[in-house]
Amino acid sequence: MQTHEPIKFLIFDASLRTGSLNDRLASLAAVTVAERGVSVDRARMMDFDCPSYDDDVEKSDGSPAGAEQLRERLAAADAFVISAPEYNASMPGVLKNTIDWVSRIAPQPFNGKQGLLLSASPSMVGGNRGLWALRVPLEHLGARVYPDMFSLAQAHQAFDGTGRLANAQLQQRFERTIECFMELVEAATRYPTLKKQWVEFLGERPDPLIDRVEATPMGGA
Ligand SMILES: Cc1cc2nc3c(=O)[nH]c(=O)nc-3n(C[C@H](O)[C@H](O)[C@H](O)COP(=O)(O)O)c2cc1C
Repeated sequence: MQTHEPIKFLIFDASLRTGSLNDRLASLAAVTVAERGVSVDRARMMDFDCPSYDDDVEKSDGSPAGAEQLRERLAAADAFVISAPEYNASMPGVLKNTIDWVSRIAPQPFNGKQGLLLSASPSMVGGNRGLWALRVPLEHLGARVYPDMFSLAQAHQAFDGTGRLANAQLQQRFERTIECFMELVEAATRYPTLKKQWVEFLGERPDPLIDRVEATPMGGA
């Protein structure tokens, strides 16, 4: 029988503040994954925080530590889960800024990686519009973003004292979403069927600086 490496998830929230609702939802996701026997690398946005992207700074200083951290921890994982706040119907700038920095490191680690998006907000829509915006750069970078997303509405009053969702039906739906994603990650990691190429800015002249083509090898990113 073929032996396989254990599957590993990177899970982080995209909020810098203490008391973040998305931190709580990311923690619940981490517990849910770990309870099902999969190893979790739990991170926070502050681990990946970067100065505003600046091409001059990149040329003089290279990538900031936060971007390198995310690249390394993504590369070491089979899948990622992000719980992101919604700011003005989009994703927080701090998250987009880090994604932009990480996208500059070759090979960029989002290519071919399985991802699940969560959000928590005090509003009635739970931050779901922000996740549609977050999909765009992630899918552009070749991540396989899971079709279902979980957005927790009225999140400020949704958790019980143990960190689970007080509404039993909602808790069950959350667990099912995570389980279905875990099954897909298991299948995609063990039995890769799709070989994908990520292509950036195909120029008219052959030039390694602008013609970035990264192939995801069969069997993982
Ligand atoms: C600049 C800014 C814009 C916001 N825009 C939205 C929004 O469009 N939709 C929404 O549901 N909540 C919005 N909020 C409220 C956040 O959802 C709320 O602050 C949430 O608790 C942030 O996530 P966190 O608790 O994980 O930090 C906004 C908050 C800030 C600071």
